[in-house]
Amino acid sequence: MASIADILAEHKGREGPLLPILHDVQKLFGYISEDAMREIASALNLTRAEVYGVVSFYHDFRKEAEARPVLKLCRAEACKARGVEALVPIADSQSRIKVEAIYCLGLCAVGPSAMVGDTVHARLDSAKFKTLLEAM
Ligand code: FES
Repeated sequence: MASIADILAEHKGREGPLLPILHDVQKLFGYISEDAMREIASALNLTRAEVYGVVSFYHDFRKEAEARPVLKLCRAEACKARGVEALVPIADSQSRIKVEAIYCLGLCAVGPSAMVGDTVHARLDSAKFKTLLEAM
């Protein structure tokens, strides 16, 4: 089992390690706790405020655990033009999954698009979207 110390050791000596460390910590624990921020700050010779500022700035970083699985649904212009707004009521009608808005996954030509974990889903229509939600 990896730990924050393992992650810090893995990135030791790298230039600009804060963001990769934060990504790895969130991937391991699902969020970045106050204790983790304190440990990271100490290891990188940063203040806790500097680490907290980065965690707070980027919406992808969580400061608390999310019990529900998370689906990120692209709500940017190209996906809007391709019909993502028709999927929003479907997302809103359930509470088992946390659906977050995201603004462009780089799949604009094949939207509407969504992301679950590291997997992207494209060309979503109502049927595909319901199937995706049910599979989560
Ligand atoms: S606008 Fe949705 S993937 Fe780019």
